[in-house]
Amino acid sequence: MSNSANASTSRAPAQQWSTRISFILAAAGAAVGLGNIWKFPYVAGENGGGAFVLVYLFCIALLGVPMLMAEVLIGRRGQQNPVNSMASLAREAGAKPAWKNVGRLGVVTGFLLLSFYVVVAGWALAYIPITATGTFVGLQPQEVGQMFDGHLQQPLPLIGWSTLVLLLTLGIVGRGVRKGLEKAANLLMPLLFVFLLILVGYASTTGHFGEAVEFMFKPDFDKLTASGVLIALGHAFFTLSIGGGAMMIYGSYLSPQVSIARTSILVAILDTAAALLAGLAIFPIVFAYGLEPGGGPGLIFVTLPIAFGQMPLGTLFGTLFFLMLSVAALTSAFSLIEPAIAWLTEKRLMSRFKASVLGGSGIWLLSLGTVFSFNIGADWTLAGKTFFESLDYLISGWMLPLGGLLMALFTAWVMKPEATAEELGGDSAAYRLWLVLIRFLVPVVIMVIFLQAIGVITL
Ligand code: TRP
Repeated sequence: MSNSANASTSRAPAQQWSTRISFILAAAGAAVGLGNIWKFPYVAGENGGGAFVLVYLFCIALLGVPMLMAEVLIGRRGQQNPVNSMASLAREAGAKPAWKNVGRLGVVTGFLLLSFYVVVAGWALAYIPITATGTFVGLQPQEVGQMFDGHLQQPLPLIGWSTLVLLLTLGIVGRGVRKGLEKAANLLMPLLFVFLLILVGYASTTGHFGEAVEFMFKPDFDKLTASGVLIALGHAFFTLSIGGGAMMIYGSYLSPQVSIARTSILVAILDTAAALLAGLAIFPIVFAYGLEPGGGPGLIFVTLPIAFGQMPLGTLFGTLFFLMLSVAALTSAFSLIEPAIAWLTEKRLMSRFKASVLGGSGIWLLSLGTVFSFNIGADWTLAGKTFFESLDYLISGWMLPLGGLLMALFTAWVMKPEATAEELGGDSAAYRLWLVLIRFLVPVVIMVIFLQAIGVITL
């Protein structure tokens, strides 16, 4: 269907996904993560449910999918790590070589994001044995809350768990595209969806399923605020893993025959399905025990364990829940370090092993900052934010949207339409729709987010 910009540097087959399904599962693995299962339910809960979910779905469809396509397209045509891919496409378009900084931004963003992602993923991993040993059975709600707070107070175990997450990630990513990323995605993603469905089935036995469905899907626009809309938007980018070079590097392993539009839509559908199923697994339980749906970040580490401690078979299904959360987090973690690994191996000519050790060490050191911001470093603050909060704000609020904006502008206005049309399967009505969305809607909306964030406009 399409030719790569530089066929001479096309990846060898061993450096490509062996099937279209493998790419879809790996990209869905990148997309489905803590964002879907930890963050989506609590932000939806805090922002009133149905109306928020509706706005979120619009953001995914109208902004998220075109941006995902743009990022995959750059990778697929560039055929290299994000920095080299941007450089070679800029060359092809006769544009400034400085565009390669967008690739650099992506590599750095993924790297920084992983440094706190491994810490939260570590909480999930820690909760598997904690739940499995029946710790929550019969505990009072305050006691469960105290347990979570106590867990965050101890730096050493936290470091141990996040180190384990990092080692598991490097162990997979270090094996390369086919033997590592692809094999893991083919095994873990179907498992993840099976776990999710089992948990939704379990939640439906509480008799409060209808209430959850109503909460999630019945829009009450009085409950939606302007900041809720912005949160929905930011989350749509985050959940699809846009703007951090992850989809770019995964796109670079994609064979030229595969349709970017169709696969991107499928990835977005799988990601959305995972978020909605997570909500349907969590809210019936929350309602059945008279708990708060807007429980904040503690929703799944405090609210849910309270319920698991009281429900029949709560220990079994609670353990399954944290197992599922850990799987989701791991497959996302792969995608956050792969851009850096590919850059180190291709640009710095390191072996994958060396690159993994080097990249992993850097992430490990940085992750200490996040660990300490919950205990001994809780008052090392910048403008009232802890290290963790500052990093999250910088990345989710600024670096990811900026990366996404620049990638959108690059495919929309810098690359030649013939080149983008070639990657997207030719000039068609669907292609034109993509071009309009990526040229106008996406940049305008992202600029509005920035203007609002720096206080130039108030929504
Ligand atoms: N989408 C993942 C989640 O929902 C997080 C993630 C993985 C990500 N890779 C990314 C976010 C790249 C931005 C960019 O948890």
